[in-house]
Amino acid sequence: MCGIVGYIGKEQAAPIILDGLAKLEYRGYDSAGMAIAGEDHQINYKKAVGRLKVLEELTHGGETMPGTAGIGHTRWATHGAPSDVNSHPHFNKEKTIAVVHNGIIENYIYLRDYLMKKGYEFISQTDTEVLAHMLDYYYKGNPLEAITKVMHRVEGSYALGVLFADQPDQLFAVRKDSPLIVGQNEDGCFIASDVPAILKYTRKVYFVENQEVVRLREDHMHFYTIDEEEIHKEPTLIDWDANAAEKCGYEHFMLKEMYEQPKAIKETLMPQNNPRIRGDEITIEELDMTDDELRAIKKLHIVACGSAYHAGVTGKYVIEGLARVSVEVDLASEFRYRNPILEEGSMVIVISQSGETADTLAALRESKARGFKVLGIVNVVGSSIAREADKVMYTWAGPEIAVATTKAYSAQLIALYLLAMKLARVNNTVTKEEYQKLLCDIKLLPDQVELLLNNKNHIQKFANRYIGAKDVFFIGRGIDYAISLEGSLKLKEISYIHSEAYAAGELKHGTISLIEDKTLVAAVSTQEALYQKTISNMVELKARGAFVLAVTNEDNKAIEKEADYVIYIPKTNAYFTNSLAIIPLQLFSYYVSLGKGCDVDKPRNLAKSVTVE
Ligand code: AGP
Repeated sequence: MCGIVGYIGKEQAAPIILDGLAKLEYRGYDSAGMAIAGEDHQINYKKAVGRLKVLEELTHGGETMPGTAGIGHTRWATHGAPSDVNSHPHFNKEKTIAVVHNGIIENYIYLRDYLMKKGYEFISQTDTEVLAHMLDYYYKGNPLEAITKVMHRVEGSYALGVLFADQPDQLFAVRKDSPLIVGQNEDGCFIASDVPAILKYTRKVYFVENQEVVRLREDHMHFYTIDEEEIHKEPTLIDWDANAAEKCGYEHFMLKEMYEQPKAIKETLMPQNNPRIRGDEITIEELDMTDDELRAIKKLHIVACGSAYHAGVTGKYVIEGLARVSVEVDLASEFRYRNPILEEGSMVIVISQSGETADTLAALRESKARGFKVLGIVNVVGSSIAREADKVMYTWAGPEIAVATTKAYSAQLIALYLLAMKLARVNNTVTKEEYQKLLCDIKLLPDQVELLLNNKNHIQKFANRYIGAKDVFFIGRGIDYAISLEGSLKLKEISYIHSEAYAAGELKHGTISLIEDKTLVAAVSTQEALYQKTISNMVELKARGAFVLAVTNEDNKAIEKEADYVIYIPKTNAYFTNSLAIIPLQLFSYYVSLGKGCDVDKPRNLAKSVTVE
């Protein structure tokens, strides 16, 4: 996902922009660029394919681009291959208007044809260049007028930074769907795609809403609607500690965030200002629903992408198992296009770490448009999904920088467990004793996760045997299938090894034909009632040469007869085992990726938050 940083103020802009872009590297990118308002109404710019380091070297850390107003960009290619010419900023022909963009202009082909008929020439394959020429087309000396006219013509998603050469005392930020914030301190004003980029300079930020325009000057900002009406906005004070977005001595953000999982679980169970377990009761105040309203929920639709979707699959097993409320889980990218059937008594739950995933945001909007309440389970405070959902249940995992989610995923599981237990309580589908046991077991999870994390050496050794693997399979039954999905994705996304997750009982219906001598199969078996079934599947696999890694409860010693390698997890409630089984699978993937020399925190082709469809 692209990154945007802008600055206008008393300081030199280029170093601040480069520093901010470095904080956004986790979003994934393939090129970088910067434009600075220079002397005599010129715009100086540099842009190049490759890592941010290339731009830093090209500009000697920004020294060759003096000026106190500018915009910068890291590009994650959507239209047009990674190249110098496709890098941002993009310009009008005279290079008097510079634009950086995160998002997709869906009608760019139409607009490009329209402009070409008017004599405009294009030099890149990007959709963004259309914006620069459209601004040129409408610009008669009034930036706000030109920007809002373009907004009325353009379809799609955009977060923009815009600089006009003849207006060097102002910058413009524009937003529709793609996240964008602005901030201010005593020396100037900032534009950024995300908080970490400017947290070092200011904690006072404004979340730009859809179809808003911000005019930034050295010492103040003005906010406007698409109709040029000035509006007032309240700032949000960011209370993250600055090094929460740093590695703090860990080799990778992913490793740091894996080790933050006990804290993320604790914070989500018991948020500082709003504990969710009080005595013998679970209180989820953010739901703001009476017991009768909760009892009236007849069906839940959980909608999400990637790992958040996998958490939703776990949620289905736990909520249906404990509360006997029907749950349907959908991939967000499918949900909005399959004309879903949402019946009366349904509530939609969207799950998202970033709160900016375009597909998930679209599913939220589709559900609300149909008149259904949406609960957002979100990690980033103030994100788009958090602000547009009817209700928000935050996962207090703190900022998650590594592209591969770990602590936010674990916190999502906790949120879903709490929801399941609350619904079970109000629906009386669990006895008082079962409820007490659930409360006791869920509180033990942080320490049990810590135990597994500290027991990592044997997993690292095992992982080193598989850095050359070509195909790895993850299988499980019931709730163990849900964790197999997440284990498989973790391995794929950071080690680039092909992997598949399968319901253990389904393997023999086709995919078992792929099993060859020494093919690694990770069999997750934490459901006592299914132990024997999974052992039968393991026997089938070993008969065909597979090497079987079993992840199972510490009391399941019988599995040792069939598995080639066993990783035990502490005993917990059958509904909570995913929170423990995922730890060795995360560590396995991390060490395989490390052994292969992959970029663990910023895997190729991936972005931390996919704000485009
Ligand atoms: C998970 O490791 C990936 N980074 C990806 O699948 C992610 O879970 C997905 O893109 C959803 O992101 P979100 O939770 O921010 O919506």
